[in-house]
Amino acid sequence: MSNPVTDRCIVLGVTGSIAAYKAGEIASRLTQWGAQVEVILTEGAQHFITPLTFQSLTGRKAYTDADLWGGEGHITHVGLGRSAELIVIAPATANTLSKLAYGIADNLLVLTVLAAQCPLVIAPAMDAGMFQHPATQAAVRILAQRGVLLVGPAEGRLASGLIGRGRMVEAAEVIAAARWLLGQRGPLAKRKVVITAGGTQEPIDAVRVITNRSSGKQGYALAQAASDAGAEVVLITAPTSLVPPYGAKVIKVRTAAEMLDAVLRETHDADALIMAAAVADFRPRTPQTQKIKKETEISSLELETTPDILMAVAERRARLGFPRRVIGFAAESEDLLTNAQSKLQRKRLDMIVANDISAQDAGFEVDTNQVTLLFADGRVEALPLMGKDQVAEVVISHLIAMLS
Ligand code: C5P
Repeated sequence: MSNPVTDRCIVLGVTGSIAAYKAGEIASRLTQWGAQVEVILTEGAQHFITPLTFQSLTGRKAYTDADLWGGEGHITHVGLGRSAELIVIAPATANTLSKLAYGIADNLLVLTVLAAQCPLVIAPAMDAGMFQHPATQAAVRILAQRGVLLVGPAEGRLASGLIGRGRMVEAAEVIAAARWLLGQRGPLAKRKVVITAGGTQEPIDAVRVITNRSSGKQGYALAQAASDAGAEVVLITAPTSLVPPYGAKVIKVRTAAEMLDAVLRETHDADALIMAAAVADFRPRTPQTQKIKKETEISSLELETTPDILMAVAERRARLGFPRRVIGFAAESEDLLTNAQSKLQRKRLDMIVANDISAQDAGFEVDTNQVTLLFADGRVEALPLMGKDQVAEVVISHLIAMLS
């Protein structure tokens, strides 16, 4: 498994905030993903965390200002700056933010940033009052205008005991931002890819719904893979507890009808639609606005069919040409390939991902999937059992080929 972070050179700057402990997780995760992580600690950072912590996590030397004034000091910052493909500063104090904004170069970290030409991700961390201060706000504005990606700070409990906006965001968010930024020049750059995920919910009454066992995992994995390839991702999602990829536009829906609206709205100019959602085929004909009382003892529920989203998309695509490519899913418990083939043709898809939900370790809820890909031109590709993220990578690689 690889992602845009793999094999990239990332400088991680750590400054003097209690949130420095979160930087350990960032260094660790980026290293596990195969990045070459060069850590630079400011003097202040070393009061909270040691170079040895980072050396242990990255397997590489961690730099401090001692290296700036050492015999090789005159080339260290230039070397680190030049080789960096991304610089992440987390946590970034008010002091470092202002230094960066005005180009002050009095320590190894800020010198390295000046010597670098790569994108910069900054996660500020400080007391809420310090973040609100006009001096800090001016620095933030200057950095944002220069194209720096600022993540956070978040609202929450601060080291001072006060509640306010100043907390560094969680490590996972910084990592996701770095991954997103490094993926931006991928093969799907400037392509709009709309992906649906999860199982829709059709109301019976004020509290009850008809839904299905779809977890949304395959759809979210597709959204991440498309984002990794640089796509502008729109994720139209039924309720799940999953975390969408950083930078994606997320549209939350519940019912098939809401999903239809969102899909039609988003695909009129899209390069691709991937319908991974398990859309309800039936819904209660007359959902009750109040909770139905137990005493009612209802014995039947009248259902009607929901709109078929892919059919509506096919009809519009035939007229307008958008979305350019359409990929559907077929979750079947019997006659998998025959059913998938018929859906591929009926819904006028470019490709369908056929999913045998009766197989173990495949389909709903689990992290793995076993699928067969069927193409409009008659090609069939059976994939072995693999992780849903790997299935997503394969599907996205086919989408890249279809769009190029
Ligand atoms: O016909 P069936 O529901 O089995 O087809 C599955 C494919 O059609 C999936 O891609 C699913 O997202 C999509 N679908 C749809 N609208 C529906 C039901 C399913 O677009 N109402």
